[in-house]
Amino acid sequence: MTKRDDPATTLTIRQARVADARALDNFLAEIFRTARHVITKSQEFQPGFLSRRVWIARKQLNPFETCLLAVQAGKIVGMIESWTDRRARVCHITCFFMAVSPSEQRRGIGKHLLQAFLNWVAAHDRLDKVELHVHDDNDAALALYTKLGFEIEGRRKGAIRYEDGRVIDDLLMAYWPKKQSQGD
Ligand SMILES: CC(C)(COP(=O)(O)OP(=O)(O)OC[C@H]1O[C@@H](n2cnc3c(N)ncnc32)[C@H](O)[C@@H]1OP(=O)(O)O)[C@@H](O)C(=O)NCCC(=O)NCCS
Repeated sequence: MTKRDDPATTLTIRQARVADARALDNFLAEIFRTARHVITKSQEFQPGFLSRRVWIARKQLNPFETCLLAVQAGKIVGMIESWTDRRARVCHITCFFMAVSPSEQRRGIGKHLLQAFLNWVAAHDRLDKVELHVHDDNDAALALYTKLGFEIEGRRKGAIRYEDGRVIDDLLMAYWPKKQSQGD
């Protein structure tokens, strides 16, 4: 658990608990209602108190996955969740999604959250590589990932089609926390 003193308040980054289920659903509902660069549309998001409790419990029990929350004044203001294919030839790679409340963006929360996640991966005995998918026009996310050392490894052309007809590429980005912390 890490704490950051902020002129205005204190940010705590911690693992999600089952008791966070309803608040996490509310947080995600706001993200899917407002974020322009995520695949899930508001009407496609299915909140559910019980299913979210089970989802969090599974994250807690799965040593290859995590869900970290950024909490400020008792409120969830950011989350990052990871998932891992457990088949032997690819289980050294983990993938993640992250989001910060619209009203709290550009205050350093995303950077703290992502750094906490990268530290968790760096300390993991089996995970070596972090991957993510990001829309080519998601300037905020691209800037954050690049700032923390992620590199573009691939491009799925025309993978996303917005409602106004625009077709956007999906970028695959990656980072090797152990190699990069050793300066390789
Ligand atoms: C992407 C996201 C998580 C960034 O979180 P955040 O808390 O706003 O990011 P931070 O304040 O920690 O910013 C860290 C760095 O990222 C870059 N950055 C963040 N937002 C930016 C923006 N709107 N434009 C340009 N650069 C930006 C900057 O380099 C920034 O550092 P600086 O403020 O010192 O210049 C947030 O914008 C978000 O939740 N977006 C909606 C959901 C989403 O798109 N998730 C990603 C899916 S792949």
